[in-house]
Amino acid sequence: MKSIAILISGRGSNMCSIVAACASGRVQARVVAVISNEADAAGLAYAAEHGIATRVICHRDFATRPQFDAALAQALDSYAPDVIALAGFMRVLTPAFVNAYRGRLINIHPSLLPAYPGLHTHARALAEKASLHGATVHFVTPELDGGPSIVQAAVPVLEDDDAARLAARVLEQEHVIYPQALDWIVQNKVKLDANGKVQFL
Ligand code: GRF
Repeated sequence: MKSIAILISGRGSNMCSIVAACASGRVQARVVAVISNEADAAGLAYAAEHGIATRVICHRDFATRPQFDAALAQALDSYAPDVIALAGFMRVLTPAFVNAYRGRLINIHPSLLPAYPGLHTHARALAEKASLHGATVHFVTPELDGGPSIVQAAVPVLEDDDAARLAARVLEQEHVIYPQALDWIVQNKVKLDANGKVQFL
C-alpha cells in the first residue's frame, strides 16, 4: 500500500480529512507521518491520537531556508513516503526541495487557481465581487501556487458572505477534493508528465 506524509502548520482539518479517508479505504494509502513547522499546531494531537508518527521541525531553529528544507527532507525521507501532501503548510519551499519531490508533492489552495495565489484568498474574492470561488489541488512546482491543477471545486459566492462564511463553504469542498486527488495519485490514475502537464491515465 502506498504511503502519504502530510505537512501542516496549524489546525490541520485537511490532514484530518485525509487520515479519515485513508482509514475508511476511500484513499488506498496509509498516512505514515504528520510533520509540522509549528510545535503548537492543533492537528498534531489528532494525528498522534490516530497512531500516526508526528514530528515538529521548527523553521525558526534554522538560519536559512535551505537549511530548514534540508532538515525537513531528511525527516520526510526517514518515512519513505510515496506522496507528500501539503495541508495548510505555511512555508515557502525552495526550488531544490520542490524539484527533489517532483510529481509526488501536492498542495491544496483555497481558490480557483490561477485566481488568487498567495494569502487572504477569500477576502480578495469578496473584494473583487467574484461570483465563483473555490479550492484547487495541484502538483507543487517552484512557482508559488503555480503548479498544474489536478482537481478543483467551485462554490458560489453568496450575497451575504463574509470571508469566514465563504472560507467555511470552501473548506467543506477541500475536505472532499483533497482525499479524492490523493486517491487518484496513489492509484496511478493521475501523474505529472515530463512536460509538466497533468495526465489522467
Ligand atoms: C486551507 O484552507 C488550505 O486550503 C490552505 O490552508 C488552510 C488550511 O486549513 N492551504 P487546515 O489546516 O487544513 O484546516
